[in-house]
Amino acid sequence: MRYEIDAHYLPLWEAAQSYQDKRNDKGHAFVVTAYARFVAARENCDAAVVIPAAILHDIGWSAVSLEDRMSIFRFDTPKEQKMKARALHQEQGVLLAKELLEKVQYDTALIPEILEIISQHDTRKGFISNNEGAMRDADKLWRYDEYGFMSDYLNGTGAIADHIEDQERHIDSEHFFCFDSSRQLARELLAKLKAKYLP
Ligand SMILES: [Fe+2]
Ligand SMILES: [Fe+2]
Repeated sequence: MRYEIDAHYLPLWEAAQSYQDKRNDKGHAFVVTAYARFVAARENCDAAVVIPAAILHDIGWSAVSLEDRMSIFRFDTPKEQKMKARALHQEQGVLLAKELLEKVQYDTALIPEILEIISQHDTRKGFISNNEGAMRDADKLWRYDEYGFMSDYLNGTGAIADHIEDQERHIDSEHFFCFDSSRQLARELLAKLKAKYLP
């Protein structure tokens, strides 16, 4: 898979730049968008919905306090605190995404679906559509991609083996991945991480 963003989406990509990667996770928006492109193509989803949703999904973190943003990565943060921060970044994300999509004059017929995906991308149980599943699978695949895995590991607490174990536990949990092909890709990426980082 190539990390790539099609030229058609560059105006939106540029417009969102200053709101991206606010959790010391430089590259998150780019890598997730690249996986979104890959998953959408493989699963015949509507790229014109999936890719903007991926580009904009986490811009709401820019409106959340630094402490709440970073608390997400810690194993010792209470569950309720994490849920509150997640809900806030989704709410703020929808507001900002609407503003940016209108600013770049994105197809108005597609905006409601894009915003709906962003509105609960981290908290919804189950998937409402293949388009939504593709965007959310891409967000999860970041954690298995070596670049994203290392980023989360360096931001968090715990040893590298704990992070690998944590990600392994998630792969087959209910509603984690939408598509079997994403699950399979995560397994392959995790196998590479294990070979490289575990004794
Ligand atoms: Fe998010
Ligand atoms: Fe994300």
